[in-house]
Amino acid sequence: MATNHQASAPRYAHITGWGMAVPERVLTNLDLEAIVDTSDEWIRERTGIRERRIAAEKETTATLGITAARRALEVANALPSKLDLVIVATSTPEHIFPSTASLIQDALGASSAGAFDLSAACTGFIYALDMAAQAIRSGSIEMALVIGAETMSRLLDWEDRGTCILFGDGAGAVVLQASSVPGGLLSTVLRSDGSGRDLLAAPTVGSKDAYAPEAGLEHNIAMHKMTMNGREVFRFATRVMKESIPEAVARAGLTMNDVDWIVPHQANQRIIEHAARSLDIPLEKFISNVERFGNTSAASIPIALCEAAEAGRIKADQILVLVGFGAGLAWGSMVIKWGIAEPPEPTRRNRYQRQVAYTFARQRSRLARTLRRIGAWIQRTPLRRLLPPE
Ligand code: UT7
Repeated sequence: MATNHQASAPRYAHITGWGMAVPERVLTNLDLEAIVDTSDEWIRERTGIRERRIAAEKETTATLGITAARRALEVANALPSKLDLVIVATSTPEHIFPSTASLIQDALGASSAGAFDLSAACTGFIYALDMAAQAIRSGSIEMALVIGAETMSRLLDWEDRGTCILFGDGAGAVVLQASSVPGGLLSTVLRSDGSGRDLLAAPTVGSKDAYAPEAGLEHNIAMHKMTMNGREVFRFATRVMKESIPEAVARAGLTMNDVDWIVPHQANQRIIEHAARSLDIPLEKFISNVERFGNTSAASIPIALCEAAEAGRIKADQILVLVGFGAGLAWGSMVIKWGIAEPPEPTRRNRYQRQVAYTFARQRSRLARTLRRIGAWIQRTPLRRLLPPE
């Protein structure tokens, strides 16, 4: 990660690449009828969701994130070695540590990048994008990869019909690059109210709620499942969308009439419709795919953004508002002036360079881990005398 705080000319952070990855396995509402006491009709009417994707055994938050990231690098026609920063917004990281971002950085061969995970639940992607944009605008870095990736299916209580019908798995990624062209990320509003921590939660080892050694393993595993007060979260979501979208738009020096698209967190179609009514914005301006993917938490905004960009719906110079809300409680809105008319067509040479970089990254990582194991073994034998002094 480069650090150079001498930028003088104004710098802007533009999204130049986007990609997504969802598991192949589809779980329909009818499938859910066989698991919990629910119905396709109830789920469609109360949420707008028809189906969601569920990770296969070998799919993880990192594997989904890697696929989305490679697609985003492809669209941006960028080499992973040029990345300065990788941020993964997730509530379902592979480990408490190391970060899932480090695993993705390694798999991509992003050898010059810093990497970290960011925890802000369903608003995580907006927080992460803002952090990356700040680093770009300050002159500290040139290019960042921001990923929202989740395997929510592994956090769900599959006996709780109030939550298990809502969520799905997937990942979305964007490449963010420095540019002298005005536009890109214009303004952000980030907020939190931790007094709502009980409304939507999944405790882990650091929590008094989850740590009960005398209760045995089963209790402790059960305590890691998600719980939610749906009605309260619904009320919160509609309130903060109504407040934070106009606030971010005003901060960007724009009016609501300037907004072309709203890309909301995909939690519930009724929340989206409520926001459209209360803000008096036509529903057609809201990008929604909740019907097909359910709520993929931090991945939902970049997946919706990616689908809209791929379909050519978002045009150069249009104004977008991203809006997220969820556990924390945390929420945020961000205004973007879309910067590029058409993504550059990747040449065969560029594609080949990226493939070589990914293969090399895999081999380099394996070799580094093997050498570390051999080094540790030698340290335990008389051969250690042959090693150079530290
Ligand atoms: O990304 C994080 C943000 N999360 C959200 O945005 C979620 C926000 N909340 C919601 O989307 C909605 O509150 C839910 C979809 C979770 C629930 O919808 P609701 O209209 O608020 O339903 P409710 O919780 O008020 O429950 C109404 C009834 C209850 O039955 P009774 O007490 O009226 O007899 C529930 O037990 O619906 C029942 N119910 C269900 N019935 C069939 C709850 N879940 C289900 C279900 N199938 N899956």
